[in-house]
Amino acid sequence: MGDKTGGGTLPGHVGIIMDGNGRWARRKGLARTSGHTEGLKTARRIVEAASKRGIRYLTLFVFSTENWRRAAQEVDFIMSLVKQHLTRELDFYRENHIRIRHTGDTDGLAPDIRAEIDQALGDTRNFDGMQVILALNYGGRNAIVRAARRFLRQCGGETADLDEDAITRNLDNPDVPDPDLIIRTAGEFRTSNFLMWEAAYAEYFITDKFWPDFCTEDFDTALAVYAARERRFGAVTR
Ligand code: IPE
Ligand code: IPE
Ligand code: MG
Repeated sequence: MGDKTGGGTLPGHVGIIMDGNGRWARRKGLARTSGHTEGLKTARRIVEAASKRGIRYLTLFVFSTENWRRAAQEVDFIMSLVKQHLTRELDFYRENHIRIRHTGDTDGLAPDIRAEIDQALGDTRNFDGMQVILALNYGGRNAIVRAARRFLRQCGGETADLDEDAITRNLDNPDVPDPDLIIRTAGEFRTSNFLMWEAAYAEYFITDKFWPDFCTEDFDTALAVYAARERRFGAVTR
């Protein structure tokens, strides 16, 4: 849940659907892969800004369970970018005290990527600043199914015990609070299977800007818009 700060309300957990890399590249007459390279630079800038603003959790939608439908060359490129980033940026995370987490289906990831993720998780596990949750091979429905399976494995199938709390407790990172704010770039009004369970009461901020063009001012605008929203969670407040 958001904290009250400086007269506004700062979201405790922000999720970002980083969309529009391909369109950004096409508009410039470049290959889609250039859009992903540029998108990674944006991600780095926004991680830094979010950490400075005091955001506690930032979930970045990096690759969805549906993104395997793309050309193998594009998929390979994105995976290699992720791998490079995780191996080279430890200093950046150390300087900013940022802890890396992962959400998504690890079974579908190549062993080398899994190893890099495990390494980054281990290397940053004691950093007490913002937590960046990388949603990689992530799908909201897949996450719910995996949570239900974890529950069944532990509890032996007592259906009466399978309640909302049981699903929440069995998600990939049960200690991470629900997102307060979800930002989507590139103007699409859909969730694309992002945080289906956790986003039940998230506030959405959608901008037409493509992800590589999204800047810290845009992030601050999203925070300001969020601060002005009235969240009712189904209740009547006036
Ligand atoms: C977001 O940009 C990155 C991923 C989904 C991996 P896109 O690659 O979806 O860019 P558009 O939507 O085609 O412009
Ligand atoms: C959502 O973007 C996934 C990520 C940002 C990683 P997509 O580009 O895959 O979403 P759709 O296909 O437009 O719904
Ligand atoms: Mg897209």
